Amino acid sequence: MGRAAAIAFAKQGATVVIAARRGDQSQDVISHIHDLGKQAHFIRTDVANSHEIRSLIEKVVEYHGHLDFAFNNAGTEGKFAPITELTESDWEHTITINLKAVWCCMKYEIEQMLTQESGGVIVNTSSWLAKGGLAGSTIYSASKGGLDGMVRPVAVEYASRNIRINNINPGIIDTEMFRRFGNPEDPHDALVKAFTNHIPVKRLGRAEEVAETVLWLCSDAASYITGQTIAVDGGYAIPGHRVA
Ligand SMILES: NC(=O)c1ccc[n+]([C@@H]2O[C@H](COP(=O)([O-])OP(=O)(O)OC[C@H]3O[C@@H](n4cnc5c(N)ncnc54)[C@H](OP(=O)(O)O)[C@@H]3O)[C@@H](O)[C@H]2O)c1
Repeated sequence: MGRAAAIAFAKQGATVVIAARRGDQSQDVISHIHDLGKQAHFIRTDVANSHEIRSLIEKVVEYHGHLDFAFNNAGTEGKFAPITELTESDWEHTITINLKAVWCCMKYEIEQMLTQESGGVIVNTSSWLAKGGLAGSTIYSASKGGLDGMVRPVAVEYASRNIRINNINPGIIDTEMFRRFGNPEDPHDALVKAFTNHIPVKRLGRAEEVAETVLWLCSDAASYITGQTIAVDGGYAIPGHRVA
């Protein structure tokens, strides 16, 4: 999803800064963006370390002078298992990356955006599992539920300062993370079949469809939207839905 968003923003003329741990993966995206004649570069960042998040924002401002949009999308599935099989260190790992890091990102991004007359826009990646009841997901669901809890107060705090903040709740999206659980290229994959049957639009989502939503939320077309959590899920999380 990060890759798709970086490309979507670059196509609209944004200078993109990619922050992640793996430089080789990011270099691939950067080459693709350079081939389009657009600007992008990589700043190695482990969001588990708040000093690295702070330094990332400082470097963005040092190199580019301002920060207009932030997509806080880094995340981990952590360990999926029944609660009795999980440890406190499993909790700390997932909560640090999926929840604390997004809180830190927003803190340092907003501190910068407050210095800019133009303000800024932030989008965080939550999940359908913030509300969903998938067995094994207690920690992941808590981390994403925390994001959905934070977005409303933080949006209210800075709405009058020209800073909009929203969350997206992706459904089942075909990414590296999803492929650690199932293989969408295998027509007999039981997990893919089960999800696909239950998704009203009858297919997994594409990272590009998530990226388009992020782009729209960051655009002036969404200028009156803040503090919201928008599902990008083909109808998957519609409460009590039945697929014909
Ligand atoms: N795929 C789905 O079905 C789905 C559904 C709902 C929500 N989500 C959420 O969507 C977001 C993107 O997920 P995805 O499916 O695109 O997963 P992915 O393919 O596994 O990508 C996750 C990204 O997060 C980065 N990342 C992970 N830990 C990091 C860390 N400690 N510091 C910096 N970067 C880190 C990874 O880069 P490096 O490894 O290079 O650091 C990678 O680029 C996540 O927040 C995920 O929880 C996914």
